[in-house]
Amino acid sequence: MTHNASTMDVGQVGLENEALGPFDQGPLNLQDWFKQTPNNPLELEIGSGKGTFLLNQANKTPEVNYIGLEYAKAYWRHAADRCRRHGLTNVKLIHTEADFFVRNYVPNECFKQVHIYFPDPWPKTRHHKRRLVQAPFLRELHRVIAFDGGQIRIATDHADYFQWMLQHAQQVTDLWEPLPFESPISAGEGELVGTNFERKYRREGRPFHAMILRKRA
Ligand SMILES: C[S@@+](CC[C@H](N)C(=O)[O-])C[C@H]1O[C@@H](n2cnc3c(N)ncnc32)[C@H](O)[C@@H]1O
Repeated sequence: MTHNASTMDVGQVGLENEALGPFDQGPLNLQDWFKQTPNNPLELEIGSGKGTFLLNQANKTPEVNYIGLEYAKAYWRHAADRCRRHGLTNVKLIHTEADFFVRNYVPNECFKQVHIYFPDPWPKTRHHKRRLVQAPFLRELHRVIAFDGGQIRIATDHADYFQWMLQHAQQVTDLWEPLPFESPISAGEGELVGTNFERKYRREGRPFHAMILRKRA
């Protein structure tokens, strides 16, 4: 982290998991978090890291509300502090685990898009079960993504994990149609998305793999 944790302030952007309330009382109205723009479309990013995608994307598309999920506390604080300092009112960053959050707090068909950029690859076979993108979670994302053009955007540097994702998407082809990747507006010149990990891996010369999964009606 470049900033001292004690000087960081998550302000109105950051929300702790505990602030979500009991997990077994049904979904939340997530738009209540966007007091000024509760009718704008809603998008989700899973694994926001230092928040570079959210910062650029939310800045360029103020007509969209964004929720970012990050379970590493130092990254969550860093990302929320950055968005607060930039005065973004269309971002909420939640310090939570993604599967737990989506299953317990998210209503049906509320996200226009879900962004998953450079998820942890868990390369050891005995850790594969921890991978985020797998068939049960793709079923759950199908529940929370809006029918009307709803999609998941995924990018990774990890060829083996990408093959795994394609295989898991194959298990739920009734739910998702794979399509070629299109960069979000956050991407700078020559970038796929423009995240910290992308920039680091690009300097190392790693190849990237990316796709869109579009929800079937
Ligand atoms: C490899 S980093 C990529 C960060 C950022 N997307 C980027 O491209 O720079 C993966 C991030 O996802 C977070 N993460 C992984 N699994 C998660 C989960 N199940 N729930 C919430 N955050 C998660 C990690 O803490 C980490 O910050």
